[in-house]
Amino acid sequence: MTTRGGPSMKWALRIPQPYIKRAIILALGFSLLSIWILAYYVSQTKQNPRWEPPQANCKLADSKANPFFPVRPQPMRDAAKNSRTQPAALVFVESAYSKLGQEIAALLEANRLKYKTEIVSGKSFPSLTEVGHGKYSLVIFENLNKYLLMDKWNRDILDRYCLEFNVGIISFVGKSEDNLLNKRVGDFPLFMHSNLRLKDCSLNPDCPLLYLTRAGETWRGNLPGEDWTIFQSNHTTYEPVAYAKTSSLEYVHMNENVDRSFHVTVMQDLGLYDGIQRVFFGNDLNFWLHRLLFLDSATYLSQGKLSLSLERFILVDIDDIFVGKVGTRMQTSDVKALISAQSRLGALVPGFRFNLGFSGYFYHSGDDVEDVGDDVLLANAHEFWWFPHMWAHTQPHTFTNESSLREQMILNKRFAKEHGIPTDGGYAVAPHHSGVYPVHVPLYEAWRKVWGIKVTSTEEYPHLRPPRHRRGFIYKNIMVLPRQTCGLFTHTIFIDKYPGGRSRLEESIHGGELFQTFINSRVNIFMTHLSNYGNDRLALYTFESVIKFVQCWTNLQLKTVPPLELGKKYFDLYPEEVNPVWQNPCDDKRHLAIWSKYKTCDRLPRFLVIGPQKTGTTALYAFLSMHPNILSNFPSSKTFEEVQFFNGANYYRGIDWYMEFFPTPSNSSLQYLFEKSATYFDNELVPKRAHALLPRAKIVTILINPARRAYSWYQHMRAHADAVALNHSFYQVVTATDEAPRSLRDLKNRCLSPGKYAVHLEMWLNHYPASQLLILDGDQLRTDPVSTMWKTQKFLKVKPHFDYDSHLRYDPSKGFYCQVMPSGKTKCLGRSKGRHYPPMENDTEKFLSNYYLPYNVELSKLLTRLGQQLPDWLREELRGR
Ligand code: A3P
Repeated sequence: MTTRGGPSMKWALRIPQPYIKRAIILALGFSLLSIWILAYYVSQTKQNPRWEPPQANCKLADSKANPFFPVRPQPMRDAAKNSRTQPAALVFVESAYSKLGQEIAALLEANRLKYKTEIVSGKSFPSLTEVGHGKYSLVIFENLNKYLLMDKWNRDILDRYCLEFNVGIISFVGKSEDNLLNKRVGDFPLFMHSNLRLKDCSLNPDCPLLYLTRAGETWRGNLPGEDWTIFQSNHTTYEPVAYAKTSSLEYVHMNENVDRSFHVTVMQDLGLYDGIQRVFFGNDLNFWLHRLLFLDSATYLSQGKLSLSLERFILVDIDDIFVGKVGTRMQTSDVKALISAQSRLGALVPGFRFNLGFSGYFYHSGDDVEDVGDDVLLANAHEFWWFPHMWAHTQPHTFTNESSLREQMILNKRFAKEHGIPTDGGYAVAPHHSGVYPVHVPLYEAWRKVWGIKVTSTEEYPHLRPPRHRRGFIYKNIMVLPRQTCGLFTHTIFIDKYPGGRSRLEESIHGGELFQTFINSRVNIFMTHLSNYGNDRLALYTFESVIKFVQCWTNLQLKTVPPLELGKKYFDLYPEEVNPVWQNPCDDKRHLAIWSKYKTCDRLPRFLVIGPQKTGTTALYAFLSMHPNILSNFPSSKTFEEVQFFNGANYYRGIDWYMEFFPTPSNSSLQYLFEKSATYFDNELVPKRAHALLPRAKIVTILINPARRAYSWYQHMRAHADAVALNHSFYQVVTATDEAPRSLRDLKNRCLSPGKYAVHLEMWLNHYPASQLLILDGDQLRTDPVSTMWKTQKFLKVKPHFDYDSHLRYDPSKGFYCQVMPSGKTKCLGRSKGRHYPPMENDTEKFLSNYYLPYNVELSKLLTRLGQQLPDWLREELRGR
């Protein structure tokens, strides 16, 4: 019998059934295993990131390459005229909320250029001069029309000012509802066309105002917006700055004469027509290049008064170099890419080095391939700078004592030594900014002791946003530098998942946020993470791209110096930032998250009695403390009942130190903490500092006749055996001339200055609203304390209303009101309050009446403005007694 099928079939048929089944199962199992193994290897073998290092194709700025604009004569510049102006800009805005106005202000602020905004109105015009000097070296109009349509009187004043002081004007063409064709710009030989769509912007390399901005490149693509204005003129005073092509075809059809290739979008007026130099912008600051041209215009038109340096420092920290989940860490190829990117960046930015932060605890916590990556990194440790992070990435503010923090740091230091990581950089960073700001004293102490840290950085001082407000400070001899953001965070690993997509990153690099950070900030410290260097190596792409773009479009000189040198450089540039200004950590969620849970904001005062000295402040302090719901500070061993925090060296001890002076209230909504330091009143640092920490606090001040106050203070100094006061009569002190010995002049100043009440009160009113300020009459406090205390309670809104009538009694032997004790006896203030001394001599009194008259006149105006009654002594002084 023959069977169907070939020989194999025959062979198969000969194999018993169970064997076939087993073979099939085995084969299946084998293929599944192979697929699994293959998949494992594929997943473990890293593919190269999708991006190659970016290429730079910058053309060199060369005027011959641009035959469109002929080289023009340079304007005459008279620096001497301009030397009589202040380095500040006057910005005319349309309203307090107008978008462009706010952007102009923000850009000036970001570059730390001083400015004042004025709302353009027909009625008032700001004063431009002060004792023969110009108050501004630049004028800016948010809307050109407001300049052109200014009433003749004001326009004449402004133009004359610009001519006399050689001050230029920047103006932006506002949006126009009509399509303007060949519209003349005021009475200038300049014409504009509006509402166009433009593309491909280039710069005129011969334009004299280019300084920061580098010509030679063309920005390809559509310019943002459809409402561009372009300028045309045949007059030699006009020099094109930027030009673009139109993509509004209808415009080209309508206007046959217009050259299709170039349209001027930013035009410089060299001042050859009417003597005033100007720059006209055909659109707002939305186009990134306008931000640069705006800064260049400011430099040029202010003749360098509002100038920027071209030097920019950049430091790239790579934080958490060993901290990262398995699968997201660096492998050998990433480390190699890091080293070669560093050398390419070094060719663009002299001194460039990546700065690596390590937490030794996480070393070798990846998979096998990643652990090899860690080792390759350490084998190349010498290629980089290194800085310590916390040993196990813990947040310093969670440690209550310094010694446990130190133990952690010692572990990390031991790790560094074992693995050849340098330990002498002097720079450190704390996880999540914890402990740096709001400051956690143990962190600073431990850093200093274990690592000899001298410099750190944070985004948190004073707040994370807006970045232009970030500042530095020095605390416990550690320089804290502001840090910038580059858009890469721990979770920013793959370009496909970049927030907003790839175009968002490209935009930030090519003229957007990151690029502008380089423009505006002279010292840039960027924090990146290990994960940004593995995976898609986004950080390498980002930094190489942005640096190349910066070099294409700007003349900025980028540099990298070691952190310690950078810290010194920063405070050389901004010495005014050395001293910190403490803020209330509880006002900011992010600050609260990195503040010790053992601290509470309830231990901060709700009101301050600020003085001045000798007006009855101790009596007020004592009377307030009698109230069941008003709690005073604990006494200080050095300054007794006064804490004197905001005015002197104590301020640098920090807010933890300050809070130690206050009890923790059992009921924080009912109870009012307060402190009285009579020297706060006339110290110009205090209102700013007090407001930064206690913006909602109420401020209480007491005034008496300033001449009497001065005399009481002089007696106080004598009682404290002050040698100069003992050796000079009061008359000699207050009439001391500039030729008098320094010690006498100092005493005179300290004696008389606090009595210039209006000057000091204005200073407080610059920071606190009038509704938070209570001005008490010291004479009334002395003669009728009950009604003064009633007024004070009402102002503070403290409950319950305390009946001072039955708790204060006039004590004839003291000559003052004193506290009635439960025993029925009175308890008066000590001998140093209500001293006995002879009355002031008539001559001195007359002298001081005259001396204080202008200040008293100002005080009466101020009190009237605040809707307050004038005290009797002030009325008498104004009446001339
Ligand atoms: P004299 O000692 O020159 O009289 P301060 O506490 O701010 O240093 O002010 C001291 C002044 O408070 C005293 O100055 C005194 O005139 C005044 N004063 C007002 N009420 C007082 C009171 N009830 N007891 C003592 N001094 C009082």
